[in-house]
Parts: sequence; C-alpha cells; structure tokens
Amino acid sequence: MQAKPYTIEKSRACLTRSNELMVRGCQGHKRSHAMLEMGYPVFTQRADGARFWDVDGNEYLDFLLGFGPILLGYNDPAINTALGKQITEGTVFSTAHPKELEIARTLIDRIPVAEMVGFLIGGSAVTSAAIRLARAYTGREKVIRCGYHGWHSWTRPGEPGVPAGITELTLDFPYGDLNALEDRFREHDNQVACVIMESVLDDGPPEGFLQGVVDMAHRYGALAVFDEIKVGFRVAIGGGSEYYDVTPDLATYGKACCNGFPGGFVAGRREILGSEKCQAVWLAATFHCDLPSLVALEVVVNELERRDGIAYQWEIGNRLIEGVNKACEEGGLGYKLIGTGPMPTPKIEEEDRERCIAMLQGCLARGFYLHPSHPMFLSLAHSEQDIEDTIVAVQESIADLDS
Ligand SMILES: Cc1ncc(COP(=O)(O)O)c(C=O)c1O
Repeated sequence: MQAKPYTIEKSRACLTRSNELMVRGCQGHKRSHAMLEMGYPVFTQRADGARFWDVDGNEYLDFLLGFGPILLGYNDPAINTALGKQITEGTVFSTAHPKELEIARTLIDRIPVAEMVGFLIGGSAVTSAAIRLARAYTGREKVIRCGYHGWHSWTRPGEPGVPAGITELTLDFPYGDLNALEDRFREHDNQVACVIMESVLDDGPPEGFLQGVVDMAHRYGALAVFDEIKVGFRVAIGGGSEYYDVTPDLATYGKACCNGFPGGFVAGRREILGSEKCQAVWLAATFHCDLPSLVALEVVVNELERRDGIAYQWEIGNRLIEGVNKACEEGGLGYKLIGTGPMPTPKIEEEDRERCIAMLQGCLARGFYLHPSHPMFLSLAHSEQDIEDTIVAVQESIADLDS
C-alpha cells in the first residue's frame, strides 16, 4: 500500500487555539506538542469500529483506542442499543437503581478478587478509593506504589501543586524487584497501609513476583492492591490477578470495562470491604454508579463472553507483536513490541530513535496509528486482516527508510 499525502495542519491549528482556551493539564497527553512534532494528529473528528478520522480527514487503524477504554470498538452496535434504551429511562437518579445490584453480582461471579465491589467514575478515582480504603482499614498512612495510577495528589508526589505533606506519604519501588519493596517496608516499618502496583507491566511479572508482593505486604501488616485499570477485561476479565492466579486484597478496574464510558470499580475481599472501617469511608459522588457506564459494563462482559473476546485479544495481539518484531528485526530497526498479547508495549532503541519515528510516520501516512512508547491495545473490531495489513505497513515503512 502506498503512503498517502498526509497533512495534520488542522490538528496543529486546533492545538494552538486550545492552548489559549484550555488548561493544558486537563488533556495534556491527548493534545500533546511532542506527539504533534513527531507527526501525529492531536485532534480527532470521529471514530468507528477500530478506526478514527482526525480533523484533517486522515483515517487510521487505531492501536491506542483512547489510551485503552475502547474494547468492543468505537460506535459498537450492542452498546448503542443498550444505551439508547437506558437514556430513555434515565441516566442518573435521586436514589440508587437496581441495575447496580445486577452488575455487582455479574462482576462478583466472574472476578476472583471481587467478593464486594464499589462503582466510581474514572480510574484515578478508583485507585484513590482503594488507597483511602486501605488507609482506613489499616490505620496507616504511607503507600508504596509501582506504575501509573492517575492524576490525584497521592500518586503525583513532588509535582507542582502537590503538598509536601502528601508527597512524603508516597514511596516507589521498581516492577519485579521484591528486594526493593522489602527495603521500603523496613524503612517505613508499621507505617505502610498498602502496596499498589500495576499487575502487568512490560513483559509481565517475573515468576513468583505477584504472590511475593501479596505475601510481603501481609508480613508487614499492609494490604496488596493490584491496579488492573489497563489490563482488566484484557488479559482476563479480572486482569493480571486472575490471569496469574494471585489474589490481592483489593483491585482496581476502569478503562476497557465500560467501552468508552467513564465508569470503573474497586473490588476486593469481603473481610476488608465489608468491615466497619471500610463501610465508614466516604466514596460518594454525584455520578458514581451512573447508568450509562453500568449498562456499557454489562454489555462488555456479555460480548466478551459471547465472542470469546479475551482469547481473541491474545490471538491478534500476539500476531501483531510477532509480525512487527520480525519486520523490524529483518529491517534492522530498533523498534520492538514487548508485553503480553492484549497490551503490546513499544520500546525504541534511543540510538535509532530518528529512524523509528520515520517508520511510525510511514505507518501514519498509510493509515496505521502505532505509538512510539505508550502501551497499545486491541479491540474486538480489529480483524485478523487488519493485523496482517499493519505488519505489511511496518515492512513497507521500513523499506521506505532506505529508499
Ligand atoms: C494502571 C492505571 N491506573 C490508573 C489510571 C488512571 O485512570 P484515569 O486516567 O481514567 O483516571 C490509569 C490511566 O492511564 C492507568 O493506566
């Protein structure tokens, strides 16, 4: 396939205007100067299935999928039908709605760590809820974290606008390193409420690591929280904890669970979430338990099961990783996909950065949106042919580098 003449001038103009009108932090990663400079569009007009069209009219097969929340596909008919009906019956009410109970039951029946759940809006709210619950339950304040958990103050220590008193409560440890985790526990003995970590990063957990984290947390009187917001409903419905068969105390879900609606949920053991200490925690907000998100969540679970959607993500994701890596190896290019099938994660060799970006630009010009660094995702709307076409686009874009 030929690279098409390709311009992102309207994206550029929108970005200039947005800087005058909007606080950049609110969606900084989506309207990013750095991405624009690499030739990526930063304003989208519409999306359908596995594709989106930017404001310049360019069409792309999307492997970023809104940074993960699209799982069935954009404009999914099953979601649209269910939501169309719900909208006529109401979306947010003055009291609770029985659908909450149905969906809670559905999740508890399917996700091993979920003996109880709580519905919130947005992944950051869900991880913050888990932290507050862990603090309330243990009576301790410090948190050891590993990975990205959102924008709330506890998870952005040392950043502008975050008070020093909050900053000093958050500690870090590197993924896969139980010795470093133990050092943190020893340095802050009897002060740590929980370890919160992304269950799956890069190539996934080293043997014994996830269970090691849970056991160590318990040894030091803390809770283990797995943040499943990227990989829940992808590597397994329950995320890494289900896939690797390790049960933490609490787990957090968002993104893909509602196929583009903002709901998410915290799940965990009844002994903890049902305790008086946790039942006393304030987790209420006007839009928590909003019906559009819950209805979407129900459709996502049904469709994943009906269409064997977890296995499909693994299948096409593994094929993408294999095909792209073979093309890059053969073409001598320092771009590689690591990670688990449902979350191919790009790594660029720094010394080959320029050629890698040129290859990705070649893909954009052919209509394929691959990312330089962020974990990518698959949807059930990606066909097997889409994956083969992507691999060909990578091969051709590499060939263009040398021509
Ligand atoms: C693992 C993880 N946790 C939490 C969050 C925060 O979710 P949100 O951006 O919906 O607030 C993200 C978002 O990327 C995430 O990847």
